[in-house]
Amino acid sequence: MRMPAFEIWLRTMGVSLSVVIALATSPAGLAAAGNQAVSQAPTADQIVNQLQENGGVFPGFRRNHAKGVCVSGYFESSGGATRYSVAQVFISGERTPVIGRLSIPGTNPYAWDDGTPIRGMALMFLQADGQQWRTAMNAVPFFPVATPAANYEFLKAQQPLPTTGDPDPKKLAAFFASHPTANAFRIWDRTTKLSASYATVQYNSLDSFYLVDAESHRYAVRWSMVPEAIADGRAAPTDQPDFLAADLRQRLSQGPLRWRLVVTLANPGDRVNDAAIAWLADRRHIDAGTLVIRASQPQSIGVCRDISFNPLVLPRGIEPSDDPLLQDRAETYAESLRRRLRDESRQHATTVAPSPSTHPQ
Ligand code: HEM
Repeated sequence: MRMPAFEIWLRTMGVSLSVVIALATSPAGLAAAGNQAVSQAPTADQIVNQLQENGGVFPGFRRNHAKGVCVSGYFESSGGATRYSVAQVFISGERTPVIGRLSIPGTNPYAWDDGTPIRGMALMFLQADGQQWRTAMNAVPFFPVATPAANYEFLKAQQPLPTTGDPDPKKLAAFFASHPTANAFRIWDRTTKLSASYATVQYNSLDSFYLVDAESHRYAVRWSMVPEAIADGRAAPTDQPDFLAADLRQRLSQGPLRWRLVVTLANPGDRVNDAAIAWLADRRHIDAGTLVIRASQPQSIGVCRDISFNPLVLPRGIEPSDDPLLQDRAETYAESLRRRLRDESRQHATTVAPSPSTHPQ
C-alpha cells in the first residue's frame, strides 16, 4: 500500500511519520519545538552527510535518486525556441543525441517504486559543437523550499532519532510551521495519484534559467518535458518493487517514447530565484521540440551510470538564474559523484540491485 510520498521521503530515510504529521499542526508541538533554524548556507559535504545520515549509505550509488534506469535517444528541435536562444540544440530541425536517466528519489537503490509519486528525469544533450546541456527535472510542481539553508534545515529536521528511528516530531512540526511551501508540498504529495509509468508524467525544471538570443537579450524561463503517452488509469502495482523499469521496457519494446519540450517564459515580476513558487499556467509557452527515448539500460551497465546531471552544465544560449538552489545542486551533485566513485565497494553499483522480497512496512 502506498504511503504519502512525503512520508516515504522520510521513510526512505528510515522514518515513520504518522506522529510527526499530527504534531505538525499541534500548537503544543510547535510551542515545545523552539526555533531550530539553520541560517548558514550549508556546504555540499554537510548536505550529503545529512542525506546519508537520514537515509543510509549505499556504496557506489548516487546519494539521492539512487534508484533509476539509463535511457538514450535524441532531441529534435521544432525551431520554436530559436529566436530566444542561440543554443545549437534549438536550431530548427537539429537532431541532438541524448543520454538520460529516469529515477525515484531517496538514497536507497532497493526502494519499492510505489513508495513515492515523485519521478525524476535527467538528460544530457550532446550538441554537435561539443557543448552540453544537462538538466535534472522532477515530476513535481514546485520544490519544498527556496534556499540551501532551508533545504538543509529540512534535512536536519528529518534525521531519525537513535531512540525511536523516527525524526523528532517537534522539530518537524516547527519546520512546517515556519515553511508554508514545504507544507504545501506535503499536501501535494499526499493527494497526488501514484503514476504507474515513467512515460506518462511531466517533468519540470523547477529552477529558472535564462535563454539568451543572438543580441544577448535574456529571457527568464523554466522548462518541462510533457509526455505524449497518456496514463491509462490503471493503478500502480503495489506487489512489484520495480514496476517502473518493467513498464518502461515493455513500452520501449513497442516503440520509442516521446515528450514535448515546453519552455515557459516568465511574466514580468515573476520570481526567478524561488523554485518553491510554481508559475501559473497563464504564462507564455514555447514548444521547442520533441524528446525521443528509444532504449533503456540498467544503471549498473548503462551509459548514464557515471554521469552527474549537474544543472549548471549549460551550452552557450542558456544561462543560470540567480536561484540559490542551482549552485547548491551543482556542488552537491559533484560531491555525490565524488563519493560514489570513491566508494571502496564500487562493485555494489555494478550488480543489479536486488529488491526486498516483501513490501517495506
Ligand atoms: C529544483 C530542484 C531539484 C530537482 C528538479 C532535482 C532533481 C534531481 C534528479 C532528477 C536527480 C537524479 C539525477 C540522475 O539521474 O543522476 C537528482 C539527483 C540528486 N539530487 Fe536533486 N533535484 C533538485 C534539488 C536538489 C537539491 C536542492 C539538492 C541538495 C542540495 C539535491 C540533491 C541531489 C543529489 C545529491 C543527487 C544525486 C546526484 C548524483 O549523484 O549524480 N537535489 N536530483
